Amino acid sequence: MIRDLIQESVPFFSEAMSSLGVSDSDWLGLFGRATVEDHADVALPCHSLAKILRRSPEDIAEEIRTLVSTGLEEIAEVSNISGFVNLKAKPSWLSRRLMEIHPDDRIGVRTDVSLTYVVDYSAPNVAKEMHVGHLRSTVIGDTIVRMLEFMGHKVIRENHIGDWGTPFGMLIEHLLDLGEDEAANELGVGDLDSFYKQAREKFVSDDEFAERSRERVVKLQGGDHETLRLWRVLVAESMRYFNEVYSLLGVLLEDEDIRGESSYQDLLPIVVERLSKEGILENSDGADVVFPGGWYNREGEPLPMIIRKGDGGYNYSTSDLACIIDRIERLNCDRLLYVVGTPQKQHFEMVFQVATMAGFMPDSNNATHVNFGSVLDTSGKVLKSREGEVIKLHDLLRESINRANEAVSKKNPDLDEKQREEVAKLVGIGAVKFADLSTERTKDYVFDWERMLSFDGNSAPYLQYAYARICSIFRRWTGEREEITGSKFLLHHPDEIYLSRKLVDFPSILEESIRSFNPHKLCFHLLSIASSFATFYENCKVLNPDDENSKLSRLSLCDLTARQLQLGLGLLGIGLPERM
Ligand code: ARG
Repeated sequence: MIRDLIQESVPFFSEAMSSLGVSDSDWLGLFGRATVEDHADVALPCHSLAKILRRSPEDIAEEIRTLVSTGLEEIAEVSNISGFVNLKAKPSWLSRRLMEIHPDDRIGVRTDVSLTYVVDYSAPNVAKEMHVGHLRSTVIGDTIVRMLEFMGHKVIRENHIGDWGTPFGMLIEHLLDLGEDEAANELGVGDLDSFYKQAREKFVSDDEFAERSRERVVKLQGGDHETLRLWRVLVAESMRYFNEVYSLLGVLLEDEDIRGESSYQDLLPIVVERLSKEGILENSDGADVVFPGGWYNREGEPLPMIIRKGDGGYNYSTSDLACIIDRIERLNCDRLLYVVGTPQKQHFEMVFQVATMAGFMPDSNNATHVNFGSVLDTSGKVLKSREGEVIKLHDLLRESINRANEAVSKKNPDLDEKQREEVAKLVGIGAVKFADLSTERTKDYVFDWERMLSFDGNSAPYLQYAYARICSIFRRWTGEREEITGSKFLLHHPDEIYLSRKLVDFPSILEESIRSFNPHKLCFHLLSIASSFATFYENCKVLNPDDENSKLSRLSLCDLTARQLQLGLGLLGIGLPERM
């Protein structure tokens, strides 16, 4: 709404301002969303104009108000308060906007010029527990994929799993010691951490085991058939567990999206060659390094990026450089997104800089680290299980579904068992996702069962419940839902008007949320739609209004609310039950 309101009123302001002798560059940037929602939708603060015109801001605001009022008659109420010109959209204008977006499948949301994006997300490590950081990456990444596709982009999902490196020597030896079947069993049930720990313990305490492990790494890198087969067992069994988590979460990731570190092996020597051709590869203490410049260690010396260690081994950064070559040159992608925690900030900054210096990508703006904060428990510590171990995601999600089941039975004891289970799954998973997505991405997020599963708070169940309520209104209505399309929006009651503002604002907020990779903006708006709907529904009779003419209009408001919730939650990967 704000966007349209600004667009439509700018010509009138332009005229007024030029008659005052103020050039566009002096006021256009000031004209925007009002900070106090109750006062206005859009405002122009005149304080900085006071210097130019040598008059008080109040005076200027009053004059501008008189100049634009007539022109804006069909659009907004114009007022001036303490040096601000305030515009508040008129109900008739809101009603026209609602009529425009109501029949539109995209509810007024535009598409972007289509680009190809690679979204790198989830990326757990083989034979290690997927931790809550991977959960955030999976949930945020999945939303971004859905959002970009909705905007008309081509999106390639890549699950950059950690499936290569020296630890695989000890992991394979441990697998052989346990026996393949036993090992597969342990990994497949998700006991990844204890498998890893056992291998690690033997590696540090048993010289013979450590020696075998080192020989195994050499065999793995040399492409020995049997070793590769055993390595594949480790990857497949871990993926079996990760896939269970993905399927519980209902994310889009599939086996075809896996492109782990191992898949860039052949490119690693090429990275070295190309860096050296560019003349940026240096030798430092026997290792091949690049100095991107701008980063320093604690001693104040320039920080190198190690490309190839003295023993010939490659680094995490090297495979990320190879990965950029692959994404840009093989996949022809325009934008690379990395949904990875904030602790890897410096890693990505350095990788993007080196990739740009080396000409692997045209400029560093092609790649974005979509970073996120940590997951904390309610006392502010990093989330751990009761035993102080890394939490198993599978258990965490199951627990959420169980808790949702309890909450749903309390709320609606009439649901039969099957319905209740379906609803509990949507609510339990939706709650975990929404709690994560509604926290500003770069902030730490507090994992709090009570809050995320509450039916009347800032939660998924609250939104799902609002949606189910509207479904029940339409079940009780005797007409056909399609009939209401095209009917007029008659906005008289303040709560109808307030809800309409939120509905009209949806398209531009959604677009902004997508373009900035900030799902929380959409989350907040969905919450404000649901809460203004609740107030509207409490105060405005929908099915038996005093004035029959209001019925279709109010039903249309219900319909639009439901569709916006459905579209918004759908983009967040959250399902909606029709009854709950
Ligand atoms: N596997 C890594 C980790 O668990 C994340 C990989 C992120 N993606 C990348 N291209 N580096 O920390």
